[in-house]
Amino acid sequence: MKVSGKPYRTIWLAEDAVEGIGAAEIIDQTKLPHQFVTVRLETLDDAVVAIRDMLVRGAPLIGATAAYGMCLAVRQDASEAAISAAYDTLYATRPTAVNLRWALDDMRELLTQTPGDRRLAAAYRRAAEIADEDVAICESIGNHGLALIQDIWEKKGKDGRVNVLTHCNAGWLATVDWGTALAPIYKAHDAGIPIHVWADETRPRNQGASLTAWELGQHGVDHTVVVDNVGGHLMQHGMVDMCITGTDRTTRAGDVCNKIGTYLKALAAHDNGVPFYVGLPSPTIDWTVSDGIAEIPIEERDPKEVTRMAGLTDDGTVTEVTITPAGSAAANYAFDVTPARLVTGLITERGVCEASEVGLSGLFPEMA
Ligand code: MRU
Repeated sequence: MKVSGKPYRTIWLAEDAVEGIGAAEIIDQTKLPHQFVTVRLETLDDAVVAIRDMLVRGAPLIGATAAYGMCLAVRQDASEAAISAAYDTLYATRPTAVNLRWALDDMRELLTQTPGDRRLAAAYRRAAEIADEDVAICESIGNHGLALIQDIWEKKGKDGRVNVLTHCNAGWLATVDWGTALAPIYKAHDAGIPIHVWADETRPRNQGASLTAWELGQHGVDHTVVVDNVGGHLMQHGMVDMCITGTDRTTRAGDVCNKIGTYLKALAAHDNGVPFYVGLPSPTIDWTVSDGIAEIPIEERDPKEVTRMAGLTDDGTVTEVTITPAGSAAANYAFDVTPARLVTGLITERGVCEASEVGLSGLFPEMA
């Protein structure tokens, strides 16, 4: 997608790379929307910090960054011991996104089967493929989701606009390009369907207010930022035609683990008869897990993300303030699980299916 008119991916090989081997570059998402800053990843440690400190985030981009992290590790030391240590270090960075494990397993298998002197080139080739595959997957999710939006637009008699509510950021910033939840929105916008997005701010890290709003604005998509508690009200008043969110991990039974607050939106959608869809790249499916509530560990992050907030002051500097009383405890659960029964459909790269084991295994029989 474009930033100030220039096409970008969220991760790419630095211009000074030689024969496809070199540093990777990313957009530092902690600086958005106030500053657009790119960062070079030279070492395994740089990739670890980028994922752990959320310079990059979103399940698919975490996977692609981990793949490049393995390349950077092999650049430093191509031994099996170093590959195994890099795998463990990268795996410990973020617990929820299953793409992280998927990408690391893929890279480790390839590297351990490749002779030492060919590992570096093989690693970079595979990381580039993982990034390209993610772009193709997300574009395909966009095309399948476009058909759903088109359908709603026609049912509305092509009157007004299609209002979509989304939570967190599952746009191109969360993937390598296009996004998952936002890919259908970009496709619809590009196809000339009048579309408007309600972007939940998504406390505590505000991925909706800072990232979703920023990238929709860059692409010229009409949007409104709302605080997290507004969705139910909007749905009660017919102001939402459909919800589309992303997912960090989906069980084989169709339960969806996504940014905290997604579950409440799905409950409100269910109560108001609003279709609730989830954009789902297949590497996000955890085929080893069935019951999301019982089996998916929920990432708990630093309580400071709850007690403090950052923002732009009138004099143009970014500053952080404390918003709670000094003695108050804060809890920071980062994800929740939306049970499959509340999900209208999963929009995958192979089409839209029911959120169930039958639905998913019908589309991905080789995995079932
Ligand atoms: O903690 P984050 O910002 O990595 O969480 C991201 C989300 O919850 C996204 O909605 C999810 O990764 C889907 S990304 C396509």
